Formats: sequence, C-alpha cells, structure tokens
Amino acid sequence: MKKNIILMGPPGAGKGTLAKKLVAKYGFAHISTGDMFREAMKEGTELGLLAKSYIDHGDLVPDEVTIGIVRERLSKNDLDKGFLLDGFPRTIPQAEALEIIAKEVSRPIDSVINLDCDEKELIRRISGRRVCKSCGAPYHVDTMRPKVEGVCDVCGGPLMQRADDNEEALKVRLDHYVKSTKPLLDFYRDRKLLSSFNSLVDSNVLLDEISKFLEK
Ligand code: AP5
Repeated sequence: MKKNIILMGPPGAGKGTLAKKLVAKYGFAHISTGDMFREAMKEGTELGLLAKSYIDHGDLVPDEVTIGIVRERLSKNDLDKGFLLDGFPRTIPQAEALEIIAKEVSRPIDSVINLDCDEKELIRRISGRRVCKSCGAPYHVDTMRPKVEGVCDVCGGPLMQRADDNEEALKVRLDHYVKSTKPLLDFYRDRKLLSSFNSLVDSNVLLDEISKFLEK
C-alpha cells in the first residue's frame, strides 16, 4: 500500500475533493497548505495576514514560509497511517526542500498523483465552487449541490465562495501553475514517482481508480 502521497494538479482539478475521500477511506493525515493558510487567515494570526496578502490576488505564498509550515507539520507524530500532501510542493525549491524533510523524518514519498483537467472545466469548477465556512467541504452550484441549499451536508455550516475564486485571481493562479508547478511533473517523472489520472470523471469513479492504484 502506498501511503505517503503528494496530490498535484491545477487549481480546481479536484485535489481537495479527492483528498477528503481518501482521508475518510484510509485515515491518511491531510496536509493541505491552502487549508492551513485559510485557517490562519480565519484566526487572524501573523501568518494568516501574510498569507492573505498573496492568496487573495492568486499569488503564491513565499517558499520559505510555506516550507516552514510543512516542515513543522511533518515533524508531528500522527503520520503513521500515511499522509496526503495537497497543494505542496508547488515550486522546485519546495520539492527540493521536501526531499530533505522527508529524509529527516524518515517518511519517504511513495507516490505523486497528478490530476489532469482541461482549462475550460477548471474555470467551470472554480467559478461554481462553494465551500463550507466551518469545515471547508467543497460543493458546486451545478454538479455537487448540498442536500439543503447553502448548508454543508457534513457539519451544517454555511456555504460561501472563496475570496480567490474570482476571474482575476484565477488567471494569476493558472499562470503560477503553468510557470512554477507544472515543471514538477518532470521532476517527479525523473524520480519514477509520477502517475497521472484524468479528473474529468465523477469524483467517486476517480476515488475507485486511485484506490486500486494505491492498494497495488
Ligand atoms: P489551494 O487551496 O491549494 O488551492 P488550489 O491549488 O488553487 O486548488 P483548489 O483548492 O482551488 O482546487 P482543488 O484542486 O482542491 O479542487 P476542489 O476539490 O476544491 O491554495 C490556495 C492558495 O494558497 C494558492 O493560490 C496560494 O496562494 C496558496 N498556497 C497553497 N499552497 C501553496 C504552496 N505550496 N506554495 C505557495 N502558496 C501556496 O474542486 C473544485 C470544484 O470542482 C468544486 O466545486 C468541486 O465540487 C468540483 N469537483 C471536484 N472534483 C470534481 C469531479 N470529479 N467532477 C466534477 N466536479 C468536481
């Protein structure tokens, strides 16, 4: 069973949606740098204020800050069932730092899962996304609607639109993905860790495909 996993893909490819399903099924620790930043923003900490100044415009938070929070998270002792890195690494320096950290904590990366999705669908998904204000569960106004309009199925919290889910910020996020994150596909292909999956399928179908792959 592969258990220390990196989940990659452009904004809106479905990383968070898939991660929540894999975490529920296998008990992996979900390490989402985006969620960690949003939590800090909600609490109004120094990290949150700094992150907000980048995230709201679609820019990447500086490497040294992001690497620092992941280093701290990977040093915790709740990772024996494995971990799912969602949204990290996103740059070559982050990937290089992760190789060092993974060695330091003796938890080598088993697999890098890349979700492929075309740009038209990414825009459709992001512009219609709603998230739970309390637990962050993702929904879509057309294709993943909650049972009760505006209310989270998981925790009953209110649904909202993320501040960076607007046309302008999305354009910047997609640019950063192409320039800074896409080169990581070759980085991990060279290390024979990369597997790509088409995310233009129902999220439960995708979960089944990836589960089979992880259990192989
Ligand atoms: P982050 O939170 O990581 O955002 P992202 O990578 O832009 O990804 P998203 O959360 O937008 O999309 P997703 O792929 O998780 O899709 P989802 O499952 O929600 O990062 C946010 C920001 O934080 C960054 O822009 C950056 O500023 C900063 N940051 C984070 N990490 C960083 C790092 N390492 N370095 C520097 N800065 C960093 O799905 C999207 C929609 O599609 C939903 O509505 C969902 O319901 C729907 N959907 C999902 N799957 C399917 C499916 N199979 N079929 C149909 N619809 C689907």
